[in-house]
Amino acid sequence: MFTKQSLVTLLGGLSLAVAQTTTEEYPSLAEIRAAQATVQPYSPVSNVKGLAFNRFVNIWLENTDFDAAAATEHLPVLAKKGLLLNNFWAITHPSEPNYCASAAGDTFGMDNDDFHQIPSNVSTIADLFDTKNIAWGEYQEGLPYPGYQGYRYPESGANDYVRKHNPLILFDSVTEDALRLRQIKNFSSFYDDLENHRLPQYMFITPNMTNDGHDTNITFSGDWTWNFLSELLENDYFTKDTLIMLTFDETGTYEIGNNIYTFLLGGAVPDDLLGTKDDTFYTHYSVIASLSANWGLPSLGRWDCGANLFSWLAKKTGYVNYEVDTSNLYMNETHWGPLSDDDYSEYYAGWPVPTTDASCSAGNGILSTVKKTYEGLTATFNYTTPFPYDSRSGNNVGVKYSRTLKNGKVESGTSE
Ligand SMILES: *[C@@H]1O[C@H](CO)[C@@H](O)[C@H](O)[C@H]1NC(C)=O
Ligand SMILES: *[C@@H]1O[C@H](CO)[C@@H](O)[C@H](O)[C@H]1NC(C)=O
Ligand SMILES: *[C@@H]1O[C@H](CO)[C@@H](O)[C@H](O)[C@H]1NC(C)=O
Ligand SMILES: *[C@@H]1O[C@H](CO)[C@@H](O)[C@H](O)[C@H]1NC(C)=O
Ligand SMILES: *[C@@H]1O[C@H](CO)[C@@H](O)[C@H](O)[C@H]1NC(C)=O
Ligand SMILES: *[C@@H]1O[C@H](CO)[C@@H](O)[C@H](O)[C@H]1NC(C)=O
Repeated sequence: MFTKQSLVTLLGGLSLAVAQTTTEEYPSLAEIRAAQATVQPYSPVSNVKGLAFNRFVNIWLENTDFDAAAATEHLPVLAKKGLLLNNFWAITHPSEPNYCASAAGDTFGMDNDDFHQIPSNVSTIADLFDTKNIAWGEYQEGLPYPGYQGYRYPESGANDYVRKHNPLILFDSVTEDALRLRQIKNFSSFYDDLENHRLPQYMFITPNMTNDGHDTNITFSGDWTWNFLSELLENDYFTKDTLIMLTFDETGTYEIGNNIYTFLLGGAVPDDLLGTKDDTFYTHYSVIASLSANWGLPSLGRWDCGANLFSWLAKKTGYVNYEVDTSNLYMNETHWGPLSDDDYSEYYAGWPVPTTDASCSAGNGILSTVKKTYEGLTATFNYTTPFPYDSRSGNNVGVKYSRTLKNGKVESGTSE
């Protein structure tokens, strides 16, 4: 029989022998305690002016159908204080590929919540922000220390922090950089950064598995949202020129269209849009495209490339968004790729190649490292469409989209 102390010692010894690298799914308690004692959060600040907002706060709840969120006591009240995005779509199921998509513009075929590490030649929004030194960060409730890479914490018992809800930790281009890791922090750091006026210009906020509704329900996560935001909406430092987006990773029901309840709040929502709803077709990829258009950043050359922009931002840049006929659209499965378990997508070992020369909705070309890395290779998918689709598997095919340009020319197509 092991005593608790000897088990800790034993695990500590084992982990030293086998795993000092980022592949560690279950670090020992001793390692966690050691890191907690030494790793400090890093909170860079910047003030790069954007066309439509100077700060973006991305808050994700879990697994709820549009109608269920719309029927809660608090969420519609909050939406009324801002702008309801009525036609906003998640990318696929289950959770992790959606979080991955928000950071890198692709799912890479992921149809599961496994422990993935995405190779360092895949770029993310962190690379986009770094081109202009726009400070970014993540606030993950219950993360034991900045940059923790384990599968969950605590490692057993009730779910609290889980890696599958942490977008940037999935990428080697982030985890191989000690400074970047320290920008992935917990809620104590959020309140410290708020108080010290050291919030970044882009932040991703993940409540724990209780508060985000995953292990509870939409009544609980709706109440959490109300409590979390009510105080923040009174804070001028937080809301000034800020867009706060409340959304969901995906619907709870897999067989219906993946249209999720989403609204924008904060000082950057234009006055004339307050209390209204926007029927423009958006996806999680539209957020990346809108961040790029807002701050003059390039595209990742993946599914962010053709994604629609926030409607009033598109007006400012002159981009014309597509209308998408969603009557045949589900967005409840994804295309093939190396992260597939062959459940809702097809496993294929090759990594999808991004476009290096398309003209994207944000209008600022493709990130230079993406161009260099994938020079001369043919893009795997048609990334200039406003939603992802895959001819080979038939995922999201047969969907019509069109737009009328300012000169009256109509551009239309069908995914096939
Ligand atoms: C990117 O990295 C992966 C994994 O190391 C590798 O299989 C792939 O060939 C690389 N892609 C390019 C274009 O270098
Ligand atoms: C949050 O992170 C800090 C280190 O930045 C750590 O001291 C603290 O224990 C963490 N909080 C939780 C709830 O794990
Ligand atoms: C989730 O966070 C809340 C605080 O927001 C905390 O009271 C609760 O214990 C956490 N849930 C779990 C299962 O750890
Ligand atoms: C929602 O979850 C909370 C916390 O687990 C629970 O107390 C409550 O009964 C649940 N409500 C419904 C309608 O299931
Ligand atoms: C997606 O929705 C279609 C239509 O309801 C259904 O046939 C298919 O099984 C769904 N996919 C998943 C993964 O549930
Ligand atoms: C790719 O999408 C664009 C729309 O942006 C469309 O004009 C073009 O025909 C598509 N290409 C193919 C090969 O389907």
